[in-house]
Amino acid sequence: MNPNTIVGLKRTIWVFSLFLLFTCNSKEYKNNMDTNKRAGLGDPHSFANLDEVIAGHASLDLKVDFNTKTLSGTCTWTLNRRATCDSLVLDTRDLTIHNVYQDDGTPCAFSLGAKHETFGQALTIKLPKNAKKIVISYTTSPEAAALQWLDPQQTAGEDPFLFSQSQAILARSWVPCQDAPGVKFTYDAKITCPPNLLALMSAENPKEKNNSGVYNFKMEQAISSYLLALAVGNLEFKSTGRNSGVYAEPAMLQKSVNEFEDMQHMIDSAEALYGPYKWGQYDVLVLPPSFPFGGMENPRLTFATPTILAGDKSLVSLIAHELAHSWSGNLVTNKTWNDFWLNEGFTVYFEQRIMEKIYGTEYERMLTTLGFGELQNTIQRLNKAGKRKDTHLYLNLENRDPDEGLTDVAYEKGRFFLQTIESFVGRNKFDNFLKQYFTENAFKPMSTQDFLDYLDKHLLDTLSGAEDSIKPHMWVYGPGIPGNIPKVKSHALDKIDNLLLTFNKGGNLTKKEIQDWTTHHWLYFLRGIELENLSNKQMKMLDTNFQLTNGSNAEILCDWFKIAIEKEYKTAYPAIRKFLIGVGRRKFLTPLYERLAQTEEGKAWAKEVFIEAKPGYHAVSYQSIEEILE
Ligand code: BES
Ligand code: ZN
Repeated sequence: MNPNTIVGLKRTIWVFSLFLLFTCNSKEYKNNMDTNKRAGLGDPHSFANLDEVIAGHASLDLKVDFNTKTLSGTCTWTLNRRATCDSLVLDTRDLTIHNVYQDDGTPCAFSLGAKHETFGQALTIKLPKNAKKIVISYTTSPEAAALQWLDPQQTAGEDPFLFSQSQAILARSWVPCQDAPGVKFTYDAKITCPPNLLALMSAENPKEKNNSGVYNFKMEQAISSYLLALAVGNLEFKSTGRNSGVYAEPAMLQKSVNEFEDMQHMIDSAEALYGPYKWGQYDVLVLPPSFPFGGMENPRLTFATPTILAGDKSLVSLIAHELAHSWSGNLVTNKTWNDFWLNEGFTVYFEQRIMEKIYGTEYERMLTTLGFGELQNTIQRLNKAGKRKDTHLYLNLENRDPDEGLTDVAYEKGRFFLQTIESFVGRNKFDNFLKQYFTENAFKPMSTQDFLDYLDKHLLDTLSGAEDSIKPHMWVYGPGIPGNIPKVKSHALDKIDNLLLTFNKGGNLTKKEIQDWTTHHWLYFLRGIELENLSNKQMKMLDTNFQLTNGSNAEILCDWFKIAIEKEYKTAYPAIRKFLIGVGRRKFLTPLYERLAQTEEGKAWAKEVFIEAKPGYHAVSYQSIEEILE
């Protein structure tokens, strides 16, 4: 046969298979998702055909373009496939796929499925026999949900900034991947950015800029896709100890280093509790204020909001939290987002133990008491909204955005479940159990049922009556707060309960009464105020005597502003406006916008502020606010 005919024939077959893929695609992969789920192999929030193929290593080669607000380049996946597997399905969202080919250059047929608002699109790649490496050439959208592109005026300096936020299922908006927490892979990356900027990832990181703007990364420990992370900006590094340090914009660096002075101590304490830190270096990157979360446990490089820089170290439990994820979450990982409490509940418990070790029992009790209050509010709110099932630890988030599982139930009910086990079996036994749990299950996914089985086998079965007293099933598969939760008691906060008794009857609060108050005393006091009894005179008194509106601690400000909005205390409104525009952390924004939206006038004002603020918010935040203001 004439070679031209062969080429022609090949092309015809290729085009035809592409046609077939396009025509049978979207329904087929919806079915695929369902079959996977039934077989227990898939993930409810991923299109990936995980029962057939696992993408075990990624090589990224991406160029960062601040003009077009895009990343473009290639992602090469190394595959572990079953003999019968003939396609690879990856998750994508708003990606433009240019080409897919084998590492020898042979093109592969591919197609994109129907668009789902939250889950994105399945990218289906026809796999040639024996293909082990698949290269995807693509460009991200300027609207990529994971990425925030900041103009210089949105940073502390004079350069643009880019950062990613992949959890829960946003990694697919910047890397085509099996976007399921139960899948782990190693990666390497080459990132090309403007030469005056530094690129950092959830990997081994450079300590300073070079003048080529090209940075190479390696992550040799397997991670899940939600832990893929990238930041690019004018960043500098300063060490805080043996294996820890801080990255920040130059203007923020020293302040951050001062605030995080106990970081190395936290790492040492964590290791003493539950075994060696497995990731080598632990650094924190302080981001511009638009970062939508408090912190994100990207391996080797926690991303953190600057709103924890209170100047007095009073908000550093957040660092203990993100550090603790290096065990709970990053080593032993929730298998699906239905098991999210395994990540967060364990982490809050672990965080609490680190804080206790470093700052003492009384301090830890204050944090735990505040957490308990938050849990009560959350459960009340969910019950009122008819979402009783969302007060279970094990969630059913199928067909829902996993973001809906991000409540204090996972965090605080999860923590109190572990505290309940501890109180029945004793701290010693529980600590040994947890250490073994992290060691034996390192780098593995864990489902809720896996955990319950492990708990029985390694702890409860050996202790008579433990199962009956602890009632793990009631905690995990039942609503609300079980009655066997241990009592939380903080002497410091009990004193405030007494003050609140008189204050809530119209009383005063004197400078003497608050002279040794820290951030946590204030938070407890503000949360204990009965709004229906709070007079205008008392509001003014609090503000004048204690400078609340002009305060600088973001946590206290947020609680004070909630009250100010409920009481329509207009003196605070210019400061509220400034706060809403200057800070992008969703945890602060949603309660304020929600309260504003309760009245017509408030809502109109909130909309006006939002128009100004939105360009500075990450998608995670502005999408939540849009829902509130709709
Ligand atoms: N992993 C979470 C953040 C997260 C969860 C992002 C789910 C997206 C989806 C992180 O560890 C976290 O919990 N951050 C908290 C702070 C913490 C001290 C409770 C936050 O951002 O407020
Ligand atoms: Zn967390």
